[in-house]
Amino acid sequence: MITRRKFLQRSSLLATTLAASKNGLLNAMPTTTMAMTSTTGAVATMPAALDVSTLPQFVDPLPIPEVAERQGYRPSPTDPKLSIPFYRIQAQSVVSKVHRDLQPTKFWGFGPSSPGPTFETRAGEPLLVEWVNALPNQHFLPLDRTLHGAEADKPAVRTVVHLHGAKTGPESDGYPEDWIVPGKSSLYHYPNQQDAAMLWYHDHTLGINRLNVYAGLLGAFIIRDGVEDALNLPKAKYELPLILYDRLLTHDAQLLYPVSPDPESPWVPEIFGNAILVNGKLFPYLDVEPRKYRFRILNASNARIYHLSFVNNASANNAAANNAPFHQIGTDQGLLPAPVPLTTLEIAPGERADLVVDFSEHRGAQLILKSDAFVVMQFRVSSGKVTDTSSLPPALRPVPKIPESQAVQTRLLTLDEYVNKSGNPVMLLLNASHWKMPVTEKPVLGSTEIWTLINPTNDTHPIHLHLVRFQILDRQPYEPWLFKTKRQLHFLGPPEPPDPNEAGWKDTVQAHSRMVTRIIVPFEGFTGRYVWHCHILEHEDNEMMRPYEVIAAG
Ligand code: C2O
Ligand code: CU
Ligand code: CU
Repeated sequence: MITRRKFLQRSSLLATTLAASKNGLLNAMPTTTMAMTSTTGAVATMPAALDVSTLPQFVDPLPIPEVAERQGYRPSPTDPKLSIPFYRIQAQSVVSKVHRDLQPTKFWGFGPSSPGPTFETRAGEPLLVEWVNALPNQHFLPLDRTLHGAEADKPAVRTVVHLHGAKTGPESDGYPEDWIVPGKSSLYHYPNQQDAAMLWYHDHTLGINRLNVYAGLLGAFIIRDGVEDALNLPKAKYELPLILYDRLLTHDAQLLYPVSPDPESPWVPEIFGNAILVNGKLFPYLDVEPRKYRFRILNASNARIYHLSFVNNASANNAAANNAPFHQIGTDQGLLPAPVPLTTLEIAPGERADLVVDFSEHRGAQLILKSDAFVVMQFRVSSGKVTDTSSLPPALRPVPKIPESQAVQTRLLTLDEYVNKSGNPVMLLLNASHWKMPVTEKPVLGSTEIWTLINPTNDTHPIHLHLVRFQILDRQPYEPWLFKTKRQLHFLGPPEPPDPNEAGWKDTVQAHSRMVTRIIVPFEGFTGRYVWHCHILEHEDNEMMRPYEVIAAG
């Protein structure tokens, strides 16, 4: 028996650890080692996280990941007469200084760095990547052997790489069970038959995906095309990826991944770090000219949703009214129909945003990129005169709205969270189904479906489908209890259209709490087995992922 006081103590400690820094209100974790009592009476300890708010800010320049280098050419698997570019990328242990005043941190990276190299590719030009697992045989983050796919009979160190946002055959998609152990490699084929967009590659191993990505196994993959070229957007040194992820560090600057009080089952429902890294650096600065820049933003965090704004240094503590305006020109899957003016960008794990920020109004000033109460990075705008020949065209790329009448099937799919007696989540499911249960979603190749995501939980779940791109139809508040007990959809308000900056092609959608979110999805490209899942990686690893199968027309 466990007393109510113990429950409270336990859940408040968990709350401190996991949630207090969600909005940056509590920037640091408690500085003493925490002892937590589990239901079995065992005590789990966790070293306290480094309070990064005491570090000097803006002492390191923003690093830019190198561009991936082709190793040569190999025959195309679909047409052996054709030679296509071949890359070899190795997952390996790397060390990197995240801040001038900290010791080097151990990460796992693709190639010599984390984030890994950025692929620069063009639509219609296929390529091959040999993904090599050259990691050590021991994992350095806390595995949970009770999770599906991570049982004691599975090797501790496994990887499989998924190219998020790619229209790729199932054998190259990084199916979560297609993992390989150290010393092995997989050859993947990326046709790149899709519009210009920034995709990203990351680990997708069943049951340990959250740990492998937290360790640093991620990188950017950019596809360009003629439509984008013709727009004369800022390019070359005026176009930069900003890959954001939050981490907790120990006092000797090593990655800290929190654990639950139960040593048998260390899984935690979400992690929120107090150190927000940009391209692998903490509080970096970037020297910019007073002109337009294009920033390719990726939220590669395990669980954190960012609310990004560019704030003038002098007014950093003032209200949102002082946020510098900027434009969003693209979503996950490419260009929007027209630039959308914004002062704050909300971006959830897995999502990308293509921004144009004009620093010409801020000559000689310093802008801070902030998210809620967190300082992310600094832009130092030079004061010299520059000529900016790039443009921000009023029209970008048409995104024809898919009519609802095109859908041949509507699926009602629930997002489910299961809690224990103390209210802590213990598992999450899609449509009340476990990973291992038979495939229930079998869209026909070439058909269009509406997926109605019903979210009775108190959290936003960023839901991602592999292979496809989709459009958001609407979100509508509903009454969860009636649906749960009677399967009746009783709406509490009118449907809300997607925000203007979501009204393009997407591959990840924020399914908000107590809302029904509808997406319309053309299933194009390939038949075969894929997955859909929540992109909060802790959720994904604890069953919030399901296979789906694209089948051939009968
Ligand atoms: Cu970015 Cu299935 O993932
Ligand atoms: Cu994906
Ligand atoms: Cu989720």
